[in-house]
Amino acid sequence: MTDKGLGWLAGSLKKLLPPTGPFARLFLGTPKKREGATVPATIVVGTQWGDEGKGKFTDLIAKEMTMVVRYQGGHNAGHTLVVDGESFALQLVPSGVLYDHITPVIGNGVVVDPLVLIAEMDKLEAKGVDCSRLQVSGNAHVIFPYHQQLDRLMERHLGKNKLGTTKRGIGPAYADKASRVGLRVQDLLDEKIFRAKLDVVLHEKNPLFAKLYNKLGYEVDDLVDTYLGETLHRIKPHIADTIDTVHTALEGGQGILFEGAQATFLDLDHGTYPYVTSSNPTAGGACTGAGVGPRHINRVIGIAKAYITRVGAGPFPTELFDEVGDHLVDVGHEYGTNTGRRRRTGWFDAVMARHAVRLNSLSEYAVTKLDVLDDLGTIKMCVAYEIDGVRTEKLPYHQTDYHKAVPVYEEFPGWKTDLTAMTERSQLPSEAINYLAAMEEQCGVPINMVGVGPGRKQFLHFTATV
Ligand code: GDP
Ligand code: IMO
Ligand code: MG
Repeated sequence: MTDKGLGWLAGSLKKLLPPTGPFARLFLGTPKKREGATVPATIVVGTQWGDEGKGKFTDLIAKEMTMVVRYQGGHNAGHTLVVDGESFALQLVPSGVLYDHITPVIGNGVVVDPLVLIAEMDKLEAKGVDCSRLQVSGNAHVIFPYHQQLDRLMERHLGKNKLGTTKRGIGPAYADKASRVGLRVQDLLDEKIFRAKLDVVLHEKNPLFAKLYNKLGYEVDDLVDTYLGETLHRIKPHIADTIDTVHTALEGGQGILFEGAQATFLDLDHGTYPYVTSSNPTAGGACTGAGVGPRHINRVIGIAKAYITRVGAGPFPTELFDEVGDHLVDVGHEYGTNTGRRRRTGWFDAVMARHAVRLNSLSEYAVTKLDVLDDLGTIKMCVAYEIDGVRTEKLPYHQTDYHKAVPVYEEFPGWKTDLTAMTERSQLPSEAINYLAAMEEQCGVPINMVGVGPGRKQFLHFTATV
């Protein structure tokens, strides 16, 4: 048979064969390599107990990207951006929203309060920020007033053992998601389904409110009025198949930034349980919360303050209860972005930082708020713990041990210099370089960027080996 004849036979068989299966491979050839596997998908993740400055660095890095995707949490987050002296406190809207070229995406792993989202968009629009490109996953779960009420009641019930949640309904909403009685954003699009699902969930919740907490329950009709009227009208244009959005971008070779909320040690699996949030902020959460596989991720940036803060209850080995702690609160303005709560402060903890490198497979660190240490004569860094008199450089897996951890400190001379106007590594005083170099050595990954003020331009590139 001639080449032409063979080609015709193969062509005819191709049409007859199903497009998949071992025979199809014989005739159709090897599938084309997908471009998506090599595009720069980056995760920004908090490595302490939140408020590290993820918003600021997300905004900075977003300049090079086409999309910023929130993958977990909800409006418990408060991400602050300061651009040309104007401050933006974001809760649900991804921190790339200020750029016209960015598509901001709220992924499937987020829990969304539609009323808060609308209020946040309104606030941004009033400041001249265009939110029309925002996409919200139809698979994201909805936070309802009964979730927030439960959050408040459970905290009250816990009394002095309370977790210090943001009372935004985050835990109860994720609990309903896991119990398979949650409502998703796409359920807002179908009144019949919306009513049916609410019927099921309120059947259980209302007696709980009435009998256990002596509170009024919730009516399906009221929730229909609140969520399916004007609210739906506002949200509907943003509801999207964000998996398709994300993958179309990846396949087109476009850069995507996954913006973590909360942090590594607030992670439901890896944090200081039960003093944690109810989602997975660690890098793996970006995969499930946005619908991408790990092979797409090629850069994971851990954000760490040059010291540590925590808001809410839970263990904190390097916590400061003295005037240095107060100084960090005052100079660092350590009050919750949205809740206004005073944050607890402490020295940088390299044991935690090393653990965060492992849990997130960090490629690098970005350190924020170095300038807050400007006036200190001596700066301490926890390099190990002593537990029952035994030194350990690793984070103890047993929480009882973690509660007993006594920090082993190394001391560094302060630089007593104002860093806030510095933009180059070469301008840094040697004491600041030494402190950063020690952090880098302790963590085992490079520090590539350092924040020296809240503004978009207040940062510099750093490497310890120059
Ligand atoms: P996020 O939740 O991780 O985004 O952080 P928050 O916005 O809740 O808290 C970080 C605070 O520190 C915000 O007020 C930021 O404007 C501010 N900030 C971020 N980076 C720096 C920095 O390098 N220096 C100073 N002084 N403030 C910073
Ligand atoms: P960003 O994204 C700091 C803390 C709460 C509480 C615990 C559980 O701004 O870093 P939750 O309401 O989530 O059930 O509360 O988690 N927490 C945060 N702390 N920054 C956050 O977000 C936080 N989000 C939740 O204070 O201790
Ligand atoms: Mg915050």
